[in-house]
Amino acid sequence: MLTDTKKMFEDAFKGGYAIGAFNVNNMEIIQGIIGGCAEKKSPVIIQVSAGARKYANPIYLRKLIEAANEEHPEIPIAMHLDHGADFEICKQCVDNGFTSVMIDGSHHEFEENVKLTKEVVDYAHSKGVVVEAELGKLEGVEDDVKVASGEGSYTDPDQAVEFVERTGVDSLAIAIGTSHGAFKFKGDPKLDFERLEVISSKLPEGYPIVLHGASTVIPEFVELCNKYGGDIPGAKGVPEEMISKAAKMAVCKVNIDTDLRLAMTGVIRKEFMENPSNFDPRKYLGPARTAIQEMVMHKLDVLGNINHL
Ligand code: 13P
Repeated sequence: MLTDTKKMFEDAFKGGYAIGAFNVNNMEIIQGIIGGCAEKKSPVIIQVSAGARKYANPIYLRKLIEAANEEHPEIPIAMHLDHGADFEICKQCVDNGFTSVMIDGSHHEFEENVKLTKEVVDYAHSKGVVVEAELGKLEGVEDDVKVASGEGSYTDPDQAVEFVERTGVDSLAIAIGTSHGAFKFKGDPKLDFERLEVISSKLPEGYPIVLHGASTVIPEFVELCNKYGGDIPGAKGVPEEMISKAAKMAVCKVNIDTDLRLAMTGVIRKEFMENPSNFDPRKYLGPARTAIQEMVMHKLDVLGNINHL
């Protein structure tokens, strides 16, 4: 069923696991995700970024998510806007059946972020839709969101409390060292778990924290891409044990895009190289869909989100 994230997060917080929030761009990705969730019996957040909307046309994505819902009515699905840039796009999604939207005012000054977030919260709540916001700045590239290396900033715990109180926002994405994309760390991966602990201890009990930029950039899939003609040197993500640890803490939503992209690309590259005479898209998009499903199932294990229907 299409639903908001309230019960998902409540259950995840209590159960010490996190909901996977997977980015989608086309039918195969959506089918792979929902297939994985059906196998693992997991509620899911399916999220659409500005880049995805530009690429696929939002109507198609919405209809594909509705199709996933029709095929698997037993799975709670939140249809979520990822990184909404302004009030207008959030309103559009609220008015078009999204059950959850993110307003990303993290690049604004604190007061401006509060004002913008509050405006979205007031509108979304009046229509029964939940809102995620972001405080602190993640580095890296996620479609239209780009923050250069060295220009990120970690979330301040006291500001987080004030932000949540003043905006009434339902969940908060924080910056503790994750970043968007495939190049997250130059040296050893490190997350500021102490900051996460302090932030969650200051927020109301059970308040859901969101982790963006949480792909692991699994070496096996980087190697698969590179083996079959890819050129992605030095890619590095957040180790899985760190993601599992965060999921046991107050992190209730973990965003994953890059890992799906790598799995899909690796498999398609392999198909192209091994079967050069093939020109039937189903013969490479089919295996890519299977790769997405397997990756999602693996991620759900890492998040501890299995058998929760
Ligand atoms: P990754 O690039 O780590 O997959 O993060 C995706 C994300 O945070 C989408 O908002």
